Amino acid sequence: MRKPNDFYPTPMSVVFKMLDELRWSGCVWEPCAGDDRLVNELRARNFVVVSGDISTGEDFFKFEAAPVTTLITNPPFARIRPFIDHAFKIGVSRMALVCGERLWACEKGRKQFERHRPSRFINMSWREDYLGKGGSPDRALAVSIWETPHSEHCRFEVWSKSGQEQRQAELSFS
Ligand SMILES: C[S@@+](CC[C@H](N)C(=O)[O-])C[C@H]1O[C@@H](n2cnc3c(N)ncnc32)[C@H](O)[C@@H]1O
Repeated sequence: MRKPNDFYPTPMSVVFKMLDELRWSGCVWEPCAGDDRLVNELRARNFVVVSGDISTGEDFFKFEAAPVTTLITNPPFARIRPFIDHAFKIGVSRMALVCGERLWACEKGRKQFERHRPSRFINMSWREDYLGKGGSPDRALAVSIWETPHSEHCRFEVWSKSGQEQRQAELSFS
């Protein structure tokens, strides 16, 4: 059974890597903040963050205008397609989403890809047990990045863990 509101916090290895790679700055909206791990890391990197979450009364789908036009989050995967459409409808112009690795790999995905093609789509070279099932994870997280609501081309990338995370992983195997 899924957790209420899809509360599955982003593994910190993915938070660090995504923010290392984004190279954005300024103001950002985190509308599905959960336990604030992404908010705290964004603030530590000098972003000004506007945040909320349905658990504290701010329903993303009730916003009629984006408070900030740059959005970074890990949204509820059960509603990720309406999330993407709604974000661009209310004026988001730049967005980075943690998502499932198969987000685009189906007919609905293909159609949404044609509507809102991201600038970059990234697979991770490692898997985290973000669902907390235990054992070896059978699925991985990915990241979609839009520099604009519809890019002409999408660049495919594969990321490895950040230097610090990589060193920790190597130490735990030695
Ligand atoms: C996958 S968790 C990620 C939390 C956090 N962004 C992170 O990176 O760890 C999804 C979050 O979305 C929130 N959420 C679900 N539906 C929402 C909605 N309609 N509006 C705002 N937040 C929502 C949940 O409460 C949960 O905290």
